Amino acid sequence: MPERIPPHSAGKPAEPGHRANAVSASASATDGYSAVRPSVARRYDFDAPTDRTGTDSLKFDRHVERGKRPDLLSLWVADMDFPCPDEAVEALVKRARHGIFGYSEPGSAYYQAVCDWMERHHRWRPDPAWFVHTPGVVSALALIVQAFTHPGDAVLVQQPVYYPFGSSIRNNGRHLVNCPLVYDAEAARYHIDFDAFERAVTQHNVKLFLLCNPHNPGGRAWSADELRRLGTICLRHGVIVASDEIHMDFAYSPCVHVPYASLGDEFAQQAIVCTSGGKTFNLAGLQTSNTIVPNPRLRRTLRAQVARSGYSQPNSLGIVATQACYRHGDEWLAQLKRYLAGNLQLVRDHFANHAPAARVMIPDSTYLVWIDLRAWGRYGADLERLVEEDAGLWLDCGDMFGEDGDGFVRINMATQRAYLQQALQQLTDALAAHPPTDRQA
Ligand SMILES: Cc1ncc(COP(=O)(O)O)c(C=O)c1O
Repeated sequence: MPERIPPHSAGKPAEPGHRANAVSASASATDGYSAVRPSVARRYDFDAPTDRTGTDSLKFDRHVERGKRPDLLSLWVADMDFPCPDEAVEALVKRARHGIFGYSEPGSAYYQAVCDWMERHHRWRPDPAWFVHTPGVVSALALIVQAFTHPGDAVLVQQPVYYPFGSSIRNNGRHLVNCPLVYDAEAARYHIDFDAFERAVTQHNVKLFLLCNPHNPGGRAWSADELRRLGTICLRHGVIVASDEIHMDFAYSPCVHVPYASLGDEFAQQAIVCTSGGKTFNLAGLQTSNTIVPNPRLRRTLRAQVARSGYSQPNSLGIVATQACYRHGDEWLAQLKRYLAGNLQLVRDHFANHAPAARVMIPDSTYLVWIDLRAWGRYGADLERLVEEDAGLWLDCGDMFGEDGDGFVRINMATQRAYLQQALQQLTDALAAHPPTDRQA
C-alpha cells in the first residue's frame, strides 16, 4: 500500500481552524450580521490544506468510536473539507463576540436572503409564509412521515437512496415500499420506471413519497419532464410528495435543478420541499433547515407535528450563517463547483486508466460519485473489507442505500484534490490486487 498522506494535505497540514484560503475583504453594514463583502473579485483556493481533526468532526475524529482503523482516509459522510464563505465566518465571529445566545427567530432579512437565492439560482421564489423551521433535513423527513401518515401506512422511496429515507420510515413504524430506480449499466445512469411507480402506489395504497431531488447517491438532477410524470401520478392518487432538495445547488452545467414545487401550483399544493444551506455551504453542524410548504393545510399539519416534537426556535448561529451564505455565497459557490468539476474529471480519468472495469456514474449534481464495482464480485461485508482493509478507506458502501446499491461504493469528492488522488490510488491498487471476475471484465 502506498505511503499515506495526512488528512487533507498535499504538504504540511494546517492548524485546526486555519483558513488557508481567506483573502481580504471590506466591511459592509447592509444587514445585521453579514458584516463583510468582497472589495475585489477573490479567488478561493480549494487546494489549500485544511485539518479537521480536533473539531469533533464525524468524518475525521470518530474513526475509533465508529469501529474503524484510525488511519483510514475518510471520504464517506456528505460534508466538505472546505471552509464556508468568509462572509459567514465573519458574521458568526461577530455574533459570537456578542456573547449572548438566547432564543432567536429569523427576521425579514433572513427570508429575503433565502428567497432571493432560490429565485436567482432556481427560478423559483417561495413565499416566506411557507417556511417551517426544522433542525435539519433528516429531522424534517421524520417529522413529515409522522405528520402525514399513520403507523402501518405505506411510504414510497426509490432505492438505492440516501439511507435515512428508509430509517425515517421504519423507525416510525411505517411500511417502506421500494420502487427501485432502473440502472442502465452501459450508460451508468439511473432512470425511473413510471409504470412500476404507479403500480407500487396503487398496490400499496401509498400515502407519501420521499423524493430525492437531486438524487443521492446517483447524482441525477431529475428533469422537469421526469418530475412532472412522477407528480402527475402522485396527484392522481393523492400522494403527498416530500422532495428532499438539499443538494439543489450542485447541478453542473448544462444540468439544472428543478424545484419540485416550481412545476406548477397543483404540484406545489401537494408538496413539501426540504432545503438547507447545509450541503451548499458546508453548514451541516449548525443544524438549520428550511422546510417549505406552500399548501396552508399541509403547513398547519406539519407545524403541529413540529410543536408536538418540542422543537421551537432554530439555532441562532445557524440563522446567522445561513443568511450570510445565501446573501453573499454566489461567487464562492461558482468557484467551488468549478473545483468539484475538476475533481470529477480526476475520478473519471483515474478509473479509466487504472480500473476500467469500474463504472463511474457521472453526477448531474451533488459532490458524490457512485461507482459500480460489481465486476469484482464483492458485495456487502466483503466489499466493505476490500474498501477498509485493502484500500485503507472509509467510504459508504452501496448496500447501505438499499440492496439495489450493493456492489457500488460512494466517494465524497468534496475534498482537496491531492487527498482525493491518494484515496483513488489506494482504491484502484486494492482492486488491482483482486482482478475483476470475467462477468464484466
Ligand atoms: C439527500 C440528503 N438529505 C439530507 C441530508 C442530511 O441533511 P441534514 O444534515 O440537514 O439532516 C443529506 C446528507 O448527506 C443528504 O444527502
